[in-house]
Amino acid sequence: MSTRPVEIAPSILSADFLRLGEQVSEALEAGVRRIHVDVMDGHFVPNLSMGPLAVAALRPLAARAGAMLEVHLMIAEPDRYLDVFSHAGATAMTVHVEACPHLHRTVGAIRGLATVGAIRGLAAQPGVAINPATPVAALEEILPDVDVALVMSVDPGFGGQAFIPGTIGKVARLRAELVRRGLEHVEIEVDGGVEPENIRALADAGMTIAVAGTSVFDPRAPVAENVRALRAACGVRART
Ligand code: DX5
Ligand code: ZN
Repeated sequence: MSTRPVEIAPSILSADFLRLGEQVSEALEAGVRRIHVDVMDGHFVPNLSMGPLAVAALRPLAARAGAMLEVHLMIAEPDRYLDVFSHAGATAMTVHVEACPHLHRTVGAIRGLATVGAIRGLAAQPGVAINPATPVAALEEILPDVDVALVMSVDPGFGGQAFIPGTIGKVARLRAELVRRGLEHVEIEVDGGVEPENIRALADAGMTIAVAGTSVFDPRAPVAENVRALRAACGVRART
């Protein structure tokens, strides 16, 4: 069994948008320190969602709590928008392998070590995501350069989808690769359909960040209670 602490990162895609600030505040009060913002463009994924305005609106709340604002860029040509999300207040940015032909350049730009056109020095934590049908091997060359490896456990585009069970084995293979290469500082984040029923198996396989939308913002219980339920089900020391 894994003893790595697991952080819960609520995805606001499933929040009540009429009460977004209130719901994010509830999560922060429950100890959450990473807010996950899903950005969709109708091209890379078949849906539209939020953009830099949502990040900017949440910025003061996150800053007050010392929490990260993580943008999950499910968009084509993410390089064009790194600057605007950085200025809006994103402190972590995750791009998809499938959307980035020049991944080292993109990751370097996020970290602030390289330039993409006019973009310089963004200094956010870079993450790289893979879709369910993309093998772990697609991350092989970029792992030394990232803070987060995000394993999608649904095809991206919508909240509330069913978890793909093969993700658990995929996380275990990625964890083994990180251990083998001395890259254990790289976070393994899992996104899509994470709930109390599967979070323990994911933590045991080596996940360190659990994105959870529906299971955190399920209106049948308060946000804080839902966060606590995920932590309790996790079975390992929760970071938040
Ligand atoms: C899916 C998004 C996820 C999603 C998670 O495209 O990247 O972050 O909102 O929501 P649940 O937990 O409902 O699957
Ligand atoms: Zn996401």
